[in-house]
Amino acid sequence: MKNKPFFLTAFITLIFTNNIMNAQKKDYLDKTKSIEERVNLLLKQMTIEEKVGQMNQYNGFWEVTGPAPKGGNAELKYQHLRNGWVGSMLSVRGAKEVKAVQKIAVEETRLGIPLIIGFDVIHGYKTLSPIPLAEAASWDLEAIKKSAQVAADEASASGINWTFGPNVDISNDARWGRVMEGAGEDPYLGSKIAIARITGFQGDNKSDLAKTNTIAACAKHFAAYGFAESGRDYNTVDMSNSKLYNTVLPPFKAASTAGVRTFMNSFNILNGVPATGNAFLQRDILKGKWKFDGFVVSDWASVREMITHGFAKDGAEATEKAVNAGSDMDMESHLYVAELAKLVKDGKVKESLIDDAVSRILRVKFELGLFDNPYKYCDEKREKEVIGSKANNEAVLDMAKKSIVLLKNKKDLLPLKKSGQKIVLIGALANDKNSPLGSWRIASDDNTAVSVLEGMRQYKGNKLIFEKGADLTVGNTSFTAELVFNTTDKSGFEKAKKAATNADVVVMVLGEHGFQSGEGRSRTNLDLPGVQQELLEEIYKVNSNIVLVLNNGRPLALPWATEHVPAIVEAWHLGTQTGNAVAQVLYGDYNPSGKLPMSFPRNVGQVPIYYNNYNTGRPINSDKNVFWSHYTDVEKTPLFPFGFGLSYTTFDYKNLKINKAVFAKEESVVVSVDVTNSGNYNGKEVVQLYLHDEVASLARPVKELKGFELVDLKKGETKTVTFTLTEKELGFYDNEGNYLVEPGAFKIMVGGSSEKGLESSFEIK
Ligand code: BGC
Repeated sequence: MKNKPFFLTAFITLIFTNNIMNAQKKDYLDKTKSIEERVNLLLKQMTIEEKVGQMNQYNGFWEVTGPAPKGGNAELKYQHLRNGWVGSMLSVRGAKEVKAVQKIAVEETRLGIPLIIGFDVIHGYKTLSPIPLAEAASWDLEAIKKSAQVAADEASASGINWTFGPNVDISNDARWGRVMEGAGEDPYLGSKIAIARITGFQGDNKSDLAKTNTIAACAKHFAAYGFAESGRDYNTVDMSNSKLYNTVLPPFKAASTAGVRTFMNSFNILNGVPATGNAFLQRDILKGKWKFDGFVVSDWASVREMITHGFAKDGAEATEKAVNAGSDMDMESHLYVAELAKLVKDGKVKESLIDDAVSRILRVKFELGLFDNPYKYCDEKREKEVIGSKANNEAVLDMAKKSIVLLKNKKDLLPLKKSGQKIVLIGALANDKNSPLGSWRIASDDNTAVSVLEGMRQYKGNKLIFEKGADLTVGNTSFTAELVFNTTDKSGFEKAKKAATNADVVVMVLGEHGFQSGEGRSRTNLDLPGVQQELLEEIYKVNSNIVLVLNNGRPLALPWATEHVPAIVEAWHLGTQTGNAVAQVLYGDYNPSGKLPMSFPRNVGQVPIYYNNYNTGRPINSDKNVFWSHYTDVEKTPLFPFGFGLSYTTFDYKNLKINKAVFAKEESVVVSVDVTNSGNYNGKEVVQLYLHDEVASLARPVKELKGFELVDLKKGETKTVTFTLTEKELGFYDNEGNYLVEPGAFKIMVGGSSEKGLESSFEIK
């Protein structure tokens, strides 16, 4: 056969060319290659539009938190998905639903790059843990890690492979509603908790991310969002470098070092520059100094909001500034997809920056194993088995008990006796199955928490009577709507008073509604909303044997209750297992061991109030006149300090020792103390070590937490607790961000709260 027929030659050539193209195209799927090689092979094949597509993130089914972006409709989004112009979606959930959108990305686009699916898994997915601030009160890093593991387990079974958590924003302003999402006011505790949460979500090692039950984490909101002026959400942040380096950045740095795969920037401006367009934060510090190799996602429409801030004149300029500043992915501004390719063609954004951003995003997708199996999180069988499992409920119950803080316990009211008592339970929140679920519970069903009433009914030895007293809210409550409180209807007061009159103990569940804290929920009052304070005082008149159980997402200022009510239990919003946790603590089946992660003020005028403040030049009233740093109408100390929390037992501290008196800079300072359980119950104590650098080139806080240990002590038992302080604990950042350990005198204090403890000192040569 001399000449092959033309059609045959053409056919063979076609197959051959196609094979070469396919071979080229799919080489990034070769698992034997390293992730970096695979990223580069794929990047080489991408058009500028496809690259920009990877940097575009769309919300799924509903506009969760932000105003709906202009022109953003499902139809357009799905078209963009088909064009390969979407790299990520958020808030699509459910194995089946995620599979459906993933299928479009993988099977209908030219390169078939899988989506990364983000979701706000903030305190659990469907089986809810306590709100993060409550978890922080446990100071139990293992339990917090476990709680994040449970959340990752459920979320990943529902198609999700990336959580927008943990929130590592330090804040000392209880007016700010989002303190419920963080770990409180302290950067040391905040850093430890950040690491616990990240390793809980992602696993301990980098390779764990490829497992099916782990998800990528996200340290947010970078940066300084917790310092919004007057505690008003989204407000301006103006801050010194010293505060930025020493208070705000440490938990983010710890997150980066722990290998968190993503960061989210924040809505606020920082010293005039929006965080989203802030090259100092994102390029110099995060990607520069810290060498972070994951990616940065914007906050919801925060790229577009730079126009409203007055930092960009239009969408094109906002895009240019955001990308140049290091924001790799645009959440719901719809701007990168519209503007970025042209900006590159016009030379306003270098293609090398796009390549860097896309590489970061692809890297995380490869690490998750999405290219090897895009549907790995979409197993409906696993979804059914995992979500809401008995084991997960047990884990969140354990976390809930550990999060409770006993604030006051006089008259031996607690623990409650298990039989022969008449207990009257009062308060709308006591019979609420919705509020305890807290604010971020998008994947959970309403009214699925165990209420306090249900929890207490498990204890059948007593006579339990419930009286609502008064409604807390009026009308519907939801994640998006402003709450309306009952400020007038007191018609249930009399019945409640009547029931309370002859009770042995009155348990009152009062506080904030679960939707009262969280995003967009700033307050100027830190009191009990509605008619609750009045109800409390009315009941007190007929029976003062009150155990006040607080539900709240932030520190409250309750001076009257603190003075009058004999027992106070801080029970936050504890999630799905709330009622069981509260009942077990009230009845002494669990001895509370939580300690406050934020100072509780006496009144809102003291805010911001925090334990690691500065001395001022006039800290005490030495001259007995008004010219010292104080208030004329209220003490300057908090109502309950950071680190404070009681137990049903008592702990004694003795024999504080430091291994030497004088140290060289690089030597370790070893501190030990004996802690004895001197009471009548087995219990746990959080032993805390605080440091004060007495004289430095920048004034240092009066005390700073530099170590803690949760110790389990049987009654009568003594344990020696040892802390080792190294350069890491002894230094601070100057205003240029340099870390310094300066010679001189240091004081330490070791005890059960930031307020008092045993003291000693040492010197660094
Ligand atoms: C919040 C983020 C959240 C995002 C996505 C924003 O409004 O500030 O914390 O992750 O919405 O829901």
